[in-house]
Parts: sequence; structure tokens; C-alpha cells
Amino acid sequence: MKVLVIGSGGREHALVWKIHQSPRVNKIYCAPGNAGIKRMAECVELSVTDVDGLVRFAKKEEIDLTVVGPELSLTAGIVDIFEQQGLRIFGPSQDAAILEGSKVYTKEFLEKYKIPSAKFKVFNDREKAKKYIDECGAPLVVKADGLAAGKGVIVSSTVQEAKDAVDLIMRDKAFGDAGNLLIVEECLKGEEASFIAFTDGKTILPLPTSQDHKAAFDGDLGPNTGGMGAYSPAPVVTEKIAEQVMQQVMLPTIQGMAKEGRPYKGMLYAGLMIDGDNVNVLEFNCRFGDPEAQPLLMRLKSDVVDIFDAVIDECLDQIKMKIDPRPTVCVVMASGGYPGNYESGKVIKGLEKASDVEDVVVFHAGTTIENGEFASAGGRVLGVTAVGTDLEKAITSAYKAVGHIAWTGSSFRTDIGAKALKNVHEITMGKEVENKAKPIGS
Ligand code: AMP
Ligand code: GLY
Repeated sequence: MKVLVIGSGGREHALVWKIHQSPRVNKIYCAPGNAGIKRMAECVELSVTDVDGLVRFAKKEEIDLTVVGPELSLTAGIVDIFEQQGLRIFGPSQDAAILEGSKVYTKEFLEKYKIPSAKFKVFNDREKAKKYIDECGAPLVVKADGLAAGKGVIVSSTVQEAKDAVDLIMRDKAFGDAGNLLIVEECLKGEEASFIAFTDGKTILPLPTSQDHKAAFDGDLGPNTGGMGAYSPAPVVTEKIAEQVMQQVMLPTIQGMAKEGRPYKGMLYAGLMIDGDNVNVLEFNCRFGDPEAQPLLMRLKSDVVDIFDAVIDECLDQIKMKIDPRPTVCVVMASGGYPGNYESGKVIKGLEKASDVEDVVVFHAGTTIENGEFASAGGRVLGVTAVGTDLEKAITSAYKAVGHIAWTGSSFRTDIGAKALKNVHEITMGKEVENKAKPIGS
């Protein structure tokens, strides 16, 4: 069969890598893709929001399955439009993707369905928001309603910072119309984790747990980025917490979306804050995480194409998902300056040597080919991902490969996975896991 993957990041390289392993697939296209993806897929110069162009391409090439990486395509309604044209596509509809597209919708939805989340208030007026900030006192979190490439959330440790965030979002329109509404939210404590699951609207099939490293610098310092590294599993999500997340978050969300007339199919990613036995939802994403996709897809032993098909055909309960018991870790290598201004077009050295390190795959995120050599072409450039019999070995292999790679200004965090090592006894190799989907009930 022929598969089209939409997107150009490390997540999409990992998707293409995994789809390439399927004996059912004989041709992969990626729009627009990157230089690493080119080795396994034919890259097509179409933007992720050029839905008409993508439909025309899928029809012309008789694509059997389209897999969507980024949220922008989903909130633009790509799934609805492909389906209207009789094309098979994996992902939630535009109505369902609102769980990522509007933070205000999601907070009100969470409240309605009694799904645990931080206390909040919605504002369309700057002065009222600031008055509320004075009443509450810091710390607080200020969030733009709409999509802002991960930058629309400002965790504020002082009242002044929170008020400045209101001005940035609503007066300066730093995130455009995404800031027409904003949320002022209680600041939660704890450890973050990503809980990512497949769902066909009737059952939910969770992937192993994972943890992202959002801050730019070691020790979780500096500004938030798209993610500087990730590992799986996340020991903070014990078996008991995972069950609690299914009961208190995932099942009521899928049930609630059906009740709202927005049936949810595809991938649901809950960003969680975990503090002891307390679990709160920070956000939902309607797609695979990036970089979480890299370590998660490396652990998935089942054919991912079978899972995409089962979601589309609403028979996810038929899938037995096999998971490699070994932990994985992904270290993101970025352009110096990211998430602020950075330079591109720097020649990347050492990729071959890095790929020769045992148990390592180097996923490309922002790369291009210039004069026959790989060059940087984005903020996040590579996701160096390793598997190991325990987390420490995975971390060692990933950093060994990272040590071979360099370009002018390249940077990376040196502490990816370190937080988990304190619980390392829980994430050494266990039994092979086989997961089955859980019915959502009524
Ligand atoms: P979001 O896009 O809503 O997940 O927010 C991005 C990041 O901001 C999260 O990964 C957290 O690190 C942080 N954050 C968001 N909401 C809160 C909150 N209520 N309390 C503390 N940190 C938060
Ligand atoms: N890793 C965070 C995200 O994909 O949004």
C-alpha cells in the first residue's frame, strides 16, 4: 500500500521510520518532509496546511492511508476534507481537534465533565484579567486561547509577570487571533508526564508513558521549547497512576466528546501534572507528541499501520499492541539560540558515525541538503534516540552518538532522562508488555 505522512519534524521522521518497517507498505510519501526522511520516503513540496493540494496529491497518487503529524493540519479540518473525498486518513476531525485548538473550550469541557485540572477564569478584557490577577496573587499561568506553536503559555512567578503576559497576548497580539481570549490559571506543582493513546471513539489503547523536557536548558531552566528530549517509560506514572489517568481523564474525555457531538478518533495526548496521588490535566494535544513520538515508536513492536487502520475502521479492540520492555531516550540537538533567534544552513558533521552507535537511531527534525551535505534548517535539528536494557544504558548510548555530531552553534541538554534515574529500579527491563484497548463505557 501507499502511505502519505504529513509534516516535517522529528515526529514525522519517526513515523516514516516505523511505517517503513511494515510489510504492508511499499511506498511512502512525506509532505513536506526533511533531508532525513528523504532516505525512506519521497518528499513532496506541499505545506501541511495546503489541504486542497494534499487532497489532489492523495487522489492522483491513489494514496491508501494518510497519517497526519502536526496539529495545524488537523485544526484546519484535513481529516473531514479527506474523508469527504473518500480518502482514508488517521486523525481527529476538525470538531474533535478543538481539544488542542482552543484552550478555553478544553478548560470548560474539563470542568463540565469533572476531569481534574487547574482552577481558571476566561477573559476577553485586559483590565478585568489584571484585576483578577491582583486578587489571586502569584504564581499564576496565563494562556492564549488558540494555537501558538507551544509559546502561548506563560508561567508567571510574580503578579507583574502575569500582567505583562496579559498585555503580550491581548494588547500586543503576540500570537495573533489566538489571543482574542485568554485564561488565567492556578499554577500547579508536581512532575509533568505525557499520556498518549490511540482511540477509535469506542475503546482507548494507551502507549507506554513518556516524559518530555520542555525547558531549553539543563535543570529545567530557561524558556519553554517544543521539547528538548524525552524518554519512555516515565516512572512518575506508576501503574496505579496510569489506571487513575485512564479512569479520571482518558475515558471521560472520549465519552464527553461523544456526548458533545464531537466524536474523537485518532491520537489523544494528555499533558499531565502529577503530584503524589494528584493528577491534573495541563493540556490536550490531538496528535503524537514531538519528541515523545521518537522514543515511543522505537518501543512499539506491533505494525503501526495495523493500528492506524483499526482506529479508522473502529475496531481497535482487535489490536494486541506489543511493546518493547526496554526503555528509550531521545536527546534533541538544536540550533544555538533556539527557541529564540538562531542561524540555519550550518553543515552537520558526524551523522554517519553517530548512526553506527549500537541501538541508536538519529531522527531528523530540521535538516536539508546543501551541496550534497546535511545542513541545519530549523530550531530543533535532530532527535538522537537510543534503546537500552536499562535507562542508564539508553542515555549513555544516546549521548555517545550526540558526541559524534556537531555543527556551528549546535546545542543540547546534557540531563535528558536524569530525573528518571532516581527511580531507575522501576524502569530496568521488565516483561514484554501486550496492551489491549479498554472500552469507554457510557
Ligand atoms: P500547555 O501548552 O498548556 O501544556 O503549557 C505548556 C507548559 O506550561 C506545560 O508543559 C507546563 O510546563 C506549563 N504549565 C501549563 N499550565 C500550567 C499550570 N496550570 N501550572 C503549572 N505549569 C503549567
Ligand atoms: N512535546 C510536546 C508536544 O508535542 O506538544
